[in-house]
Order: sequence, then structure tokens, then C-alpha cells
Amino acid sequence: MNKQGKILIVDDELGVRESLKFILKDKYDIFPFDSGKEVISSFSPGAYDLALLDIKMPEMTGIELLKRLKNLDPEIIVIMVTGHGTLETAQAAINLGASGYVSKPFDRHELEKMIEENIQKKKRREEERLKLVSLEEAKKQLDSEVRKAYSATLESLIIAVNAKDSYTSSHSQEVAMLATWILEASGEMRNSGEEKAILRYVASLHDIGKIGIKENILKKPGSLNSQEWEEIKRHPIIGAEILGPIDFLRGYICIVRNHHERFDGTGYPDGLKGEKIPFYARVVSIADAFHAMCSDRPYRKSLLKERALEILKQEKGKQFDPALVDIAVKALEDSDLYL
Ligand SMILES: [Fe+2]
Repeated sequence: MNKQGKILIVDDELGVRESLKFILKDKYDIFPFDSGKEVISSFSPGAYDLALLDIKMPEMTGIELLKRLKNLDPEIIVIMVTGHGTLETAQAAINLGASGYVSKPFDRHELEKMIEENIQKKKRREEERLKLVSLEEAKKQLDSEVRKAYSATLESLIIAVNAKDSYTSSHSQEVAMLATWILEASGEMRNSGEEKAILRYVASLHDIGKIGIKENILKKPGSLNSQEWEEIKRHPIIGAEILGPIDFLRGYICIVRNHHERFDGTGYPDGLKGEKIPFYARVVSIADAFHAMCSDRPYRKSLLKERALEILKQEKGKQFDPALVDIAVKALEDSDLYL
């Protein structure tokens, strides 16, 4: 017959140990000891389901042993065994974590019932704990699958942008790199690794709306007429619409929608002013403009880094957030990027 649990018996009287063993041995594995000291020296958490402790013992009392056992293994069930004159102490033991007490001489059925109920309760607790652990594992697994799916979605979008326009492709990656770099220099990069990764993805998708702009306008070598310009100006809105349904990007889509806002409020599409422009969008706006100035475009050659930095400074408070320009310019001046 499968035993239902492991029971520790600690009593200095051999007769008591033997009678408890006799009553319980068919259902449980029994581990009798005659002193608490001996138990503690070989104890390991989880070794027993339940302990029956005599209260009056030489060297270490049952109460002291109860405290030590609960300290070493909070899950162990302790039932005190009381003799004549120790009933009050047994009640005090309940306050110290004992689950109950039985009085000598034992009522066999009462003892068996108390042990069985407590062991079943412990088993149910353990089952609940295991269920919770496996639920948490399943949730972790699901989260990691979802994260993988998110990353794959974003990678696909990046490929879609790249397929449309090779300039946009390399420009987007550079802007994402520069934006995270400026954020780090600003000391505002306090996000978790995952948030950083999302930021970088979204920054690299800031021009995704260009997917919806006619190619002949996107690649036009000369300057744009007003109608074409109005068409180009739709790309932040188109981009925000493309990313809109992706739930986990909520909170970051402002980067796409507002990267062409100007600090003085004359930008597009929403004409936001100053700090009304989301912080990440203000950062990406600087990264975007700086990288565009340092690249060859269909309508002009690239500017020297020095000149591009000059323009950033001139545009403080006009196109760009002045405090962020100071941070970006200092960081760029100190680095050998774009030399
Ligand atoms: Fe743009």
C-alpha cells in the first residue's frame, strides 16, 4: 500500500513512540526520534510532512523544537502531544504555528482524523502551488511566443519599408541608432531592455508611412510642387495608421505620427508645440534631420557634419527642442560619427 506521507515523531518516552508508530505505520512512513537535538542535526526541509512533538522533553522542549522546525521548514505540519499539565502550553503552541494538539492517552480515531485532515490540507496546498507554478510557466512561455511574433511582425514591416525605398531603408536604421544614442546621452534612457528594443524598432519605422506615398514623388530629383509636398506630408499619418492596430506599440506610435512636428508649433501633422510634442518624437526629429543632412539626397549632396551641427544649433527652439539639441550636439561633437 502506498504510504500517504512521512511523519516525524519526537518523544523521549519509548512507549509513546512505539504506540504512535503502531497506530500510524500502516498509512504513513514513520521516523521516530527521542530528542529534538537529534532531529535538528539531520533535518532537511521537505523531509517530513508532519511532526508529532512531545512538549515535555529534556534538553530541547517541544515548543523550542516547534520554533526551530517551522523556521527550517514553514510548510511542515506540527501537532503537539500533551501530557498532564501541559494543555496550556499546547494552546500557546498553536500561536507559534502548530496545527493542533492531542492529549495523552490518545484517542486513536481523533489522532488519525487530525493527521489525515492536516496531510490532505497540505497536499491540496502543494497541488495549488504546483498549479500556480505551471500557470506561471505557461504564461512565461506564451509571453515569449508573443514577443517573438511581435519582433517578426516588426521585422516584416521594416523589410516592407526597405523594399519601397533603399534610401529610406538605410536612413531609418541610422535614425533609430542615432535616436537611441541621443536618448542615452540625455540620461532619459531608463527603460527596460524590451522597451529599448521597441523604441528602436519604432524609430526605424518612423517613415513607414512612405509606403503609401507615390514612388515618383518619393524619388523626385528636383524640388516638389505644393501638391506633391502635401502628399509627402501625409506619411506620418499613414505610418501611424499602419502601426495603429499593433497593440503593444501603443505609446510609441507618437514617434511615427509626430516626428515632423516643430518645437515652435509650425510642424505637421498636428502642429504640436514645445513639450506637447511627445519626448521620443522630439528626439527622433533631431536624429532624422541630422542624418538627412549628412546623407546625399536626390535633390542635394550631403552636408559636412560641422555644417549639419551648425544648423541643429540654429534651429534650437524653432524646429528642435533646445535642451535636446544641446545634448545631441555635444554627443555628436565628441564622437567620430559622420566624419
Ligand atoms: Fe519622415
